Parts: sequence; C-alpha cells; structure tokens
Amino acid sequence: MSQFPKDFLWGAATASYQVEGGHDAEGKGLSNWDVFSHLPGTTYQGTNGDVAVDHYHRFKEDVALMAELGMQTYRFSISWPRLLPQGTGKVNEAGVKFYSDLIDELLKHNIRPMITLYHWDLPQALQDKFGGWASREIVDAFDGYARLCYERFGDRVDLWSTFNETIVFIGMGYFTGQHPPKLNDPKVGIQACHHVFLANARAVKSFREMKINGQIGFVNVLQPNDPISDSLEDRRACEFAEGIFTHWLYDPVLKGEYPAELLAMAQQAFGVPEFHPGDEQLLKENIVDFIGLNYYKREMIAHNDDINGFEMNNSGQKGSGRGLGFKGLFKTVRNPNGVYTDWDWEVYPQGLTDAIGRITHRYGNIPIYITENGLGAKDPIVNGEVLDQPRIDYLRDHIKATADAIAQGADVRGYYPWSFIDLLSWLNGYQKQYGFVYVDHENNLARKKKLSFDWYRKVIESNGETL
Ligand code: BG6
Repeated sequence: MSQFPKDFLWGAATASYQVEGGHDAEGKGLSNWDVFSHLPGTTYQGTNGDVAVDHYHRFKEDVALMAELGMQTYRFSISWPRLLPQGTGKVNEAGVKFYSDLIDELLKHNIRPMITLYHWDLPQALQDKFGGWASREIVDAFDGYARLCYERFGDRVDLWSTFNETIVFIGMGYFTGQHPPKLNDPKVGIQACHHVFLANARAVKSFREMKINGQIGFVNVLQPNDPISDSLEDRRACEFAEGIFTHWLYDPVLKGEYPAELLAMAQQAFGVPEFHPGDEQLLKENIVDFIGLNYYKREMIAHNDDINGFEMNNSGQKGSGRGLGFKGLFKTVRNPNGVYTDWDWEVYPQGLTDAIGRITHRYGNIPIYITENGLGAKDPIVNGEVLDQPRIDYLRDHIKATADAIAQGADVRGYYPWSFIDLLSWLNGYQKQYGFVYVDHENNLARKKKLSFDWYRKVIESNGETL
C-alpha cells in the first residue's frame, strides 16, 4: 500500500524568469533580473533569461509534456512586470492573456496550477522609483499586483503562494550582494525583509477579503543546520544559524511575530526592523494557510572568529565554494563524512525528515507542500540519451524521506520536484540541470525526455509506491 495519502499531489515546479524568455515580448516591462544579468560579471558566463527556454512561446508543447508525465499539479510563478510593466498602474493585457492561456491549458489536462506571486523578478521601475524592497511603498505596490492576479486568475486557481525564498532574494540581494540590488547592508536588508513580511500579510488579507476560493501560503528554504562538533561554541553558533535561517523567516508568517531574542539583537545592533503602528496587528491577523518547503541540502555549522562573506561555487567545480560566514556569529563548514554535489551541496535525505519534524515541532501540524527538491547536475548524454540516474537516486531517497515524515504525523500534501524542465539557474547558467526534460540549446531549444521522466511518471502513477 502507498505511504502517501490518496489525494497527495504530485507535480513539478519552475519560475518565470528561469523558463519564460520573451523578456520584452508584447509590452512586458523590464525586471530587476533583466537588468542585473546584463551587468558584466554578475552571472555564470554572462547567461541571462532573455530567451531562457522560451516557455512563453512554447507553453502548449510544455504542458503536453507535463500531461504525458502525469503531473497532477504545476507550480509556476508570475512575472510581475509582465502584468504591470511599471509595477503599478496600467495593466499589460497581453501578459494577462499569457498566464490565462497557460492556466486554461493546464486545466484542460487536469493539471492543478499553483501560482507563486513573487519568484524574484521585481519590476525594475519600482527599484528605480523607490529602491524596491528597501522602501515601505513596496507593500502597497505588491498588494495591488496580488489583487490583480486574484481578480484575473482566482476563478481558476486555488493554490497560491506569495513569496519564494526570502532568505535568497533578501539575503543575497541585501546582505551578501550576489543578487540584485547587489547590496552589503544589513540595516537595509533587515528592513527590506520586514517589508516582505508586511507585503505577504497584506496579500493574504486581500486574498481573504476577495473571498478567493483556495489556499495561500509562503515558500521558504528548508535548511536544517547541525553543529560540526559537540562543543558549546559550535552548538551556540548552530542555534544562531537556525534562528536566522529558519525562525526569523518562518515565525512572522506562521506565528505573526518575530523570534523575540533575535528581534532584540537586531534592533540593538542596527535599529531595525522599524515598526509602524498597525504592523504587529497586520502580521498577527494574517497567518498563511500552508507552508511551502524548498529542500536541497543541510549545512554544518561552526563558530566563527575569522570569515566574513559568502563565496559560492557557481561553476560546478567541486570544492571551489568556501561557504558563508558572519564573523563572531557562525560559519558553514564542510561535513568530512558528507556526500556533495559538484556545486558543493550536501546530499542528505534524512535532513528532509528531520527538518520537517523541526517545523511541526515549532509550528504545530500545519499543512505542508514540498515546493522544491532536486539535484543540480551536469547530466551525462550517452548515444543521444540523457541518462540522469543520479537524479533518480536523489529524488527516490527524498521521496522516501517525505514518506517517513508523513509516517511520523506531518501533514505533507504534495511534492514538486525542481524542476519540470531544464532551465536557467540564476547564477549557474544552463549547465546546472534539474529537469525531467532536457533542452537542446544547440538545436533550437528542442525538448527531450530524460531517463528520470519515465521513472517519475511511474512514481506518480503508483502514488509513490513504485520508486
Ligand atoms: C531555489 C530557487 O533557490 O533553488 C530556484 O527557488 C533555484 O529558483 C533553485 O533555481 C536551485 O538553485 P540553483 O542556484 O542551483 O539554480
């Protein structure tokens, strides 16, 4: 008998900038990534999403492949500047039509859409006008955009999430500088993060006010942290890392408040987040319906007297990443017994079960979707076939880890591997592949099913019994 509930949803995920292309098609405005990726030295070999895998023009072909895979649900994001080229104001009807047609095509094939409102592509106009997330004005702008999406798509879509991975777009945008707007400014970053929580709360409030028939959640990175040794210093460093990576980002959307100790520390050190009257109430009254968890890896943590900064492996040369460190607080270190990908991400399926357990322990038995999980790899091509056996092994072990979490009582309702199709990895170009479908960049972006495609089809068909 299957270890998954009979209404469990099997799907796969993508994000607008990473698949759509059509960066200036039919009235779309520029996003922050359209601009950032064209600045010299920002991405792997200057790759960008101008064309990506041209999903904008080929979505029917892609949805047909989703149907062939047996997908029951598809998680995708909407490009804000495709709908609102200036971020607010005049609507680009061609952009609305694209998503509307995509939704209809999915429904025609019995694939349930899950929309992410914000997967990092901010209208550049709002960055230029008031500094994007750094300004409180973004909260109204985001709410207006969310309302437009509910109005146009809420009759057909019942699974929504507001944000994808605040830790990444705020952390790397405002603290470590690898994403737009390329800042290294904790004070601005902490306040920008507060605006994300407020924007989430406002969009959740609007969702309920507009009586959209469905559920709305928030998607976070799920990254369990474990201390590299049993020493008191390493355990303390790890507690702090867990506080920042998890509690700071989950508490405001699931409890409607910040973790008190960390909040006091931030306000003492930087004087932020700054609250306006009504902020606390807004957060408290607008808890999300579910949490989306993106799980790839765990991090081992040590105390840190030396390193400040973040050196990533964006090349796929194993061992070239140096990790993240905040001097005096903590640093990530390599697990000497760990198994790592070519991008230095630890493969650790047990971490998924453990981390779900930590979430339900802190927040109760909330509805959970695994909104991303996958292996980034340079897939081998043998005699024209894409033989991605390592991906199958990775996903199989993580699906088992999900089943273990369910057996322990967690309310996991669906699983979306990252990604449906090979797409643009923000900083790693097209060589870091995640998909069930290969895209031939030398041959007019032709699609080709990988070994994992047929494997996952059987997983879905058997509701997770055939692994
Ligand atoms: C998540 C994002 O951080 O991980 C995706 O939501 C991203 O957009 C994925 O592509 C994998 O990360 P990367 O850096 O390997 O592309």
